[in-house]
Amino acid sequence: MLYRDFGKTGLQLSNLGFGIMRLPIIDNDTERIDEEKALPMIRYAIDQGVNYIDTAWPYHGGKSEEFCAKVLKNGYREKVRIGTKLPCWEMKQQSDMNVYLDKQLERLEVDQIDLYLLHSLGADSWKTMKEFDYYSFLDDAKKSGKIKYAGFSFHDNLDVFEDIVDDYDWDFCFIQLNFLDFDYQAGVRGLKYAHKKGMGVMLMEPLRGGMLARTEVPSEIQAIWEQADQARTPAEWALRAVWNLPETSVVLSGMASMEQVVENVKIASEAEPGSLTGKELSLIEKATRAFRERISVDCTNCRYCMPCPAGVNIPELFWALNHAALFDDHEKARFWVNDFLKAEERPSACVECGECEEHCPQNIPIRKTLREIGERYEDNVNPL
Ligand SMILES: NC(=O)c1ccc[n+]([C@@H]2O[C@H](COP(=O)([O-])OP(=O)(O)OC[C@H]3O[C@@H](n4cnc5c(N)ncnc54)[C@H](OP(=O)(O)O)[C@@H]3O)[C@@H](O)[C@H]2O)c1
Repeated sequence: MLYRDFGKTGLQLSNLGFGIMRLPIIDNDTERIDEEKALPMIRYAIDQGVNYIDTAWPYHGGKSEEFCAKVLKNGYREKVRIGTKLPCWEMKQQSDMNVYLDKQLERLEVDQIDLYLLHSLGADSWKTMKEFDYYSFLDDAKKSGKIKYAGFSFHDNLDVFEDIVDDYDWDFCFIQLNFLDFDYQAGVRGLKYAHKKGMGVMLMEPLRGGMLARTEVPSEIQAIWEQADQARTPAEWALRAVWNLPETSVVLSGMASMEQVVENVKIASEAEPGSLTGKELSLIEKATRAFRERISVDCTNCRYCMPCPAGVNIPELFWALNHAALFDDHEKARFWVNDFLKAEERPSACVECGECEEHCPQNIPIRKTLREIGERYEDNVNPL
């Protein structure tokens, strides 16, 4: 295994971290972790040198942290650092933060959590956390020894990211990064910004939740990978693309089978920063362009269109449309529109005021595109 510095913490963490979020399950029920399969997968990774395990309050319907405690018995706890996250969206009052932290220490059966994060910060949740004085909460948790290092995971745009980075003396952060999303959310610019401030930066979703690792990639992209001197799986291309960045520390992957663990551990033990050749980097650029040509709507997630006066979540809807076009994954788009978003955020909530279009720097015909998304993916759309 290769190890990298984790910013100002002084920790040396393994290239690969194990996300306890996508373990094998029984009867398609995310709360029923298939422990007979999952436990050997995580312990194998640790035996091979993985020294960071990532969990969170809601993973596997709330069962991930307890399962983590089980995996880390028999001497495994001493071999790893554990990270878990405060579910910011559950905080109704300031005292909730300590209540959740104490429950998490119990679930994990530890006296101290090595890496503790405010989970999934964006502009809105950050505002709430500020109102609840997250500064004192984290300072006190460190002082009392309940947590060792404080950080946050992030899903919003670069401006918000930089503001959050500057708001507290963070030890580290997690951002979503994969070669298709180098300019999305915090992106590579955010990675460099946080790194320059001395923070350890972990990367999440390096395979875009598995999409970039699909073996049935679009044929034009497969043709690009076949130009390489050395054959690699799509997963290896995607992982190497992010490990190649010198500012990257741990790359988190939520592996779902022993085969995936074996493959990712092997790649992690070879992927040095800057190790891709010029030809390989240009193939990744070509693949990015080919993926991008499939993109339906040229939204850069700048969010200038927001807030929509009617509450429509324009950037998330455009993300769903693009995801479907990129990967022919229409089910995910349907899920995103109908299950992930609230009713008032869906296309049918658009009142066609056009305010968004006045602000869009890409000149996207937003109203027309929302109508198309509604017709294609929204259940029970009432014609406008
Ligand atoms: N804090 C946050 O806001 C947040 C958000 C997202 C993630 N995370 C953390 O970051 C971790 C990483 O994110 P992620 O799980 O989305 O990472 P990811 O690596 O982008 O996606 C994991 C998925 O990729 C597929 N995969 C992994 N290795 C593979 C291989 N060698 N070959 C083929 N497919 C492979 C599997 O998909 P299949 O199941 O389809 O096989 C697996 O479920 C999470 O587990 C979680 O701990 C945190």
